Amino acid sequence: MNVIVTDNPEQAFQCIADMIANEIRRSSTPVLGLATGRTMENIYRLLVQQHKAGALDFSDTTSFNLDEYVGLAPTDPNSYHHYMQDHLFAHVNMEASRAHVPNGIAPELEVECAHYEAAIHAAGGIDLQLLGIGETGHIGFNEPPSAFDSRTRVVHLDEVTRRQNSCMFDNDPDRVPSHALTMGVGTILDARRLVLVAVGKGKAAIVNEALNGPISETVSASAIRLHDNATIILDTAAASDWKRTTRWRC
Ligand code: GLP
Repeated sequence: MNVIVTDNPEQAFQCIADMIANEIRRSSTPVLGLATGRTMENIYRLLVQQHKAGALDFSDTTSFNLDEYVGLAPTDPNSYHHYMQDHLFAHVNMEASRAHVPNGIAPELEVECAHYEAAIHAAGGIDLQLLGIGETGHIGFNEPPSAFDSRTRVVHLDEVTRRQNSCMFDNDPDRVPSHALTMGVGTILDARRLVLVAVGKGKAAIVNEALNGPISETVSASAIRLHDNATIILDTAAASDWKRTTRWRC
């Protein structure tokens, strides 16, 4: 596992945007796993900039988003479908049929989850999975406890997460949907490469727990320590509690 600590958030975003851009250029059929949240907006902004400058072609790229709220239609401004359109898909030359986000209003959610897993498999698996981290230590929406072999499924969102994400819902945690569809921890671990990004002091404690605490299903981000090609990119604030007592290779 590589841990990269940058001097400021912008350097962290640039570093990840470059990794993603390199993956898109390297492969003739790149398959990306994408994430949402405020942190990721910055990375998509840099990728859109590269595309608009003529330096990045998304025409052969396929993507799979980690998660979606249950009950929100793709047109809902708070849905992750809408987020992805707003921040990336509408601004680059990716084919709509190749940009996958779980359908939170599918009539049968279990069937939707099984189809999502099958679609990832049919695309040849994910080359590079982008990850953020929530206050509960979740990756995707894998709230504690989430089995490390879990697959795409319906989950109940933790109250901490509903509060954390309420800024998109008029600061009212009760308006944040109670359930979501998320790739499982096992689905995420199947990706050939993982890149987790965290910036800001608010992430310092959970980052330290994920990197130094027990590898445990109560902190799903700790699972990435089991992956043999994972990179963690932190700014100095997010790395400020990190004690660097880990025994694994950095
Ligand atoms: C949501 C997403 C997570 C993401 C988290 C971090 O909960 N489901 O995948 O890691 O947001 O969000 P932020 O970047 O806003 O802190």
